[in-house]
Amino acid sequence: MSDSAVTRYILICSGKGGVGKTTLTANLGIALAKQGMRTAVLDADFGLRNLDLLLGLENRIVYTAQEVLTGHCRLEQALVKHKQEPNLALLPAGNPRMLEWLKPDDMQKIAAMLGESFDIVLIDCPAGIEAGFQNAVAAAKEAIVITTPEVSAVRDADRVIGLLNTHGVKPIQLVLNRVRPKMMANQEMLAVDDVTDILALPLLGLVVEDEQVIVSTNRGEPLTLNGSNSPAAQAYSNVARRICGEEVPLIDPAKARKGLRAKLGRLMQTKIF
Ligand SMILES: Nc1ncnc2c1ncn2[C@@H]1O[C@H](COP(=O)(O)OP(=O)(O)O)[C@@H](O)[C@H]1O
Ligand SMILES: [Mg+2]
Repeated sequence: MSDSAVTRYILICSGKGGVGKTTLTANLGIALAKQGMRTAVLDADFGLRNLDLLLGLENRIVYTAQEVLTGHCRLEQALVKHKQEPNLALLPAGNPRMLEWLKPDDMQKIAAMLGESFDIVLIDCPAGIEAGFQNAVAAAKEAIVITTPEVSAVRDADRVIGLLNTHGVKPIQLVLNRVRPKMMANQEMLAVDDVTDILALPLLGLVVEDEQVIVSTNRGEPLTLNGSNSPAAQAYSNVARRICGEEVPLIDPAKARKGLRAKLGRLMQTKIF
């Protein structure tokens, strides 16, 4: 038995849709479970649930958060344990019609129940800042804001950070997703420092644009599941290690790229090539 007072409740949110919240939740869930953390992932995107699909668990859902809240089943009956990573369990989102009656109090109830058996609860937040967000944030103590280096996504992230502060959520940390080092180095995309300066959040992780993410999404097998060494898989694992308190250095791929180019330039000048 665990104590919900020490359980970590981390909201994964962004404001804008399609920036990588669910992908991050699935990959982090697996990576944290691999590190021995008893991890629950809570799909709070009741309108457009797809955390079950990304984890390949859609065929094993019997009950959802809805039946738990209406007293039609116990929490243990609704939780879907991951076969390969039994430290990970999904609490699926119920029917979108739940949104007609779901309240922040309900989410707090679910969070407290999950706290009995889990060390960490990741909450996959819906896009937007309306009722769905208000419900999801009620279950959270800390947050990871994820954004892509695009002006519109960063602006939405900024609004969400304001709301998280109002709700007393802390710490709030940043994951920058779909980074393209070449575009950044060529100043065709916001740089990492630009985004961290605007949002004034500590950087928890950088995930590059990686087509393996799309392949794994379609397979329902998060990249962190089978020891992939693709750049995104490593980035997700590093985020999990940092969440667990490990100091894992962060490398800005655009700066690394510039550094390599400068080195190459120096080598060319000294005619080593
Ligand atoms: N680092 C990445 N590289 C390539 N594709 C990505 C990356 N992160 C997310 N994606 C893709 O972006 C799309 C949206 O991701 P998703 O996690 O569903 O976003 P959200 O939950 O914020 O709406 C998916 O098709 C996913 O595969
Ligand atoms: Mg999503």
